[in-house]
Amino acid sequence: MKNNENSTPTALVTGAGRGIGRAIALALAHKGFAVGVNDLDANVANAVCAEITALGGKVTTYVADIANPEAVTGMMEAFVAHHGGITALVNNAGIVRTSSFWDIPIEEWDLVMKVDLRSVFLACKAAFPYMKQAGYGKIINMASVAGLLGGGLLGNAAYAAAKAGVIAFTKGVAREAGPLGIRANVIAPALTDTEMTCGIDPEKRQGIIRQIPLGRAGLPEDIANAVVFLASPESDFISGETLIVDGGFMRR
Ligand SMILES: NC(=O)c1ccc[n+]([C@@H]2O[C@H](COP(=O)([O-])OP(=O)(O)OC[C@H]3O[C@@H](n4cnc5c(N)ncnc54)[C@H](O)[C@@H]3O)[C@@H](O)[C@H]2O)c1
Repeated sequence: MKNNENSTPTALVTGAGRGIGRAIALALAHKGFAVGVNDLDANVANAVCAEITALGGKVTTYVADIANPEAVTGMMEAFVAHHGGITALVNNAGIVRTSSFWDIPIEEWDLVMKVDLRSVFLACKAAFPYMKQAGYGKIINMASVAGLLGGGLLGNAAYAAAKAGVIAFTKGVAREAGPLGIRANVIAPALTDTEMTCGIDPEKRQGIIRQIPLGRAGLPEDIANAVVFLASPESDFISGETLIVDGGFMRR
């Protein structure tokens, strides 16, 4: 392992103000990472920052739109200036759209691509020089089983296309940056209980849960535990992988 074993590992988590991202930020802080909490929404980002501070963790907050290239570059520079480097980048922020491809306006398609896919490219590109310099880095990108199935749980074809793009892009990052010590992996959750999914029709939700062999929806902590593993040295020989965290849904 070429990780700087004596210094505190650091992680920047996008969309960490609530839901899965919040659980990831808390779990990484618990594991000893200094954490950067990014979100569009300052109130939720500051609340998570306060939670981590109360636990005795090291944390900074970045209110920035990950779809905006300048904002992403500025956030990365500020994060590295404060924490001295970036061990792990967790591209978690995302939005979902539900209307079918024949109904979705072009502007909405473009927004989904910008927030769910292009942002991942922007953040990886911004983190790359620092990880290259360190000879070590962990990139963890949040996709979805939608990216493997074409949508169908909550997300539509546009969401599925963006998440499939995240999976393919991550494999490319693993291939291109692996020789420099940078690992890149994907997490693909199925139905997970967050604000994103709380509006799902209860009957539809029960129908999905009936298809999950473990008999329940995921919790944000289920996803966060997988992220902690992929951010840790214990997974250093894993790269280009898609880790499905779905209670067995895809194997039903
Ligand atoms: N919840 C699920 O069932 C589920 C399933 C599969 C994949 N996912 C993926 O997991 C990730 C997190 O999902 P969640 O359920 O926690 O969502 P959520 O909507 O509950 O939280 C997303 C967070 O990201 C932030 N965000 C949105 N756009 C942003 C932007 N442009 N810049 C910065 N922050 C932004 C939001 O403010 C919010 O705090 C997403 O990528 C989502 O597609 C979720």
